[in-house]
Amino acid sequence: MPSLNGGDVQQAVDAAYMKFRALDEGRNADYIPVLADADPDLFGIAVVTAEGSVHAAGDVKTEVSIQSISKVFTMAQVIQEQGLESVEKRVGVDATGARFNSIIAVEAIRTVVGAGAPEMNPLVNPGAIATTSMVLGASADEAWNKILGFHSAAAARQLGIMAEVYKSESDTNQRNQAVGALMLAYGYIKSNWQQAVDLYTRQCSIGVNARDLGVMAATLAFAGRNPVTGSQVIDASRVPGVLAVMATAGLYDDSGKWLYHTGLPAKSGVGGGIIAVSPGKFGIAVVSPPLDGAGNSVRAQRAIAAISNALGGNPFAQPAIDTPAPLVR
Ligand code: DON
Repeated sequence: MPSLNGGDVQQAVDAAYMKFRALDEGRNADYIPVLADADPDLFGIAVVTAEGSVHAAGDVKTEVSIQSISKVFTMAQVIQEQGLESVEKRVGVDATGARFNSIIAVEAIRTVVGAGAPEMNPLVNPGAIATTSMVLGASADEAWNKILGFHSAAAARQLGIMAEVYKSESDTNQRNQAVGALMLAYGYIKSNWQQAVDLYTRQCSIGVNARDLGVMAATLAFAGRNPVTGSQVIDASRVPGVLAVMATAGLYDDSGKWLYHTGLPAKSGVGGGIIAVSPGKFGIAVVSPPLDGAGNSVRAQRAIAAISNALGGNPFAQPAIDTPAPLVR
């Protein structure tokens, strides 16, 4: 596949930045109190190409918490360590069609499909907490160091926790604790749900900027090889499974709408980041905290769709076509 022209990429990034810079839609998440304090004007775009070139606009240095985007990399880590079937058998790889923190989805699956049925996925909270519980380690700290190390390898930089986010989320994550206990009761988590919820809360508190997320997206776009460091973070054979779950469940219950308009596997986080992957072409990330009603960054959706259109990023479109960005609600 011919690599993209760097000038074209930068032009698309700059155009999207100028077009959406003044957009004033959406609201910061506030159910984790500290997220309400993020700067709503923060807006950074990073596109990373096969050569590891980073094409950026806006603020790509200020950190936000990675939140649910971490679910992709912990899923990838478990798949890397234990095989594609591990997550499929324990958690499932099917969209729930419910909100990311739904407890009803867990109950409905049990009632409709059967006890312990692996009919959810690692990108909704119940599945994510169960997936985090699968990271092998003799102690919580050993598992944590592996999780942080894996995220850092994908980002090409040593990442760390945003302590105030971890505290704020730990103080208010009673719902996730209930989910963790339920997942143990139903056999998706084998032991120590409290540790799983704490590790999940830590991974959601990892600080990342738009550049980090762009490199992480590019690691997925280029068959698991980080194009900046050249290191193989995930086996190429494991990447399509990861992208498939992103495609079906990456933008909450708006995942189908997003895919319909862009064709790009993606994942959002309530900190305001979205990553998206055009396999073999580019990885892209945008950070902008105000979210739409579904919980996805408004500017990020718009900017990613515009840049992907300009670069022919939709893998379903042969030849490339121009599609409108999804409607936000
Ligand atoms: O569990 C939570 O509520 C947050 N730590 C993550 C939220 C998030 O980004 C949801 N994404 N699917």
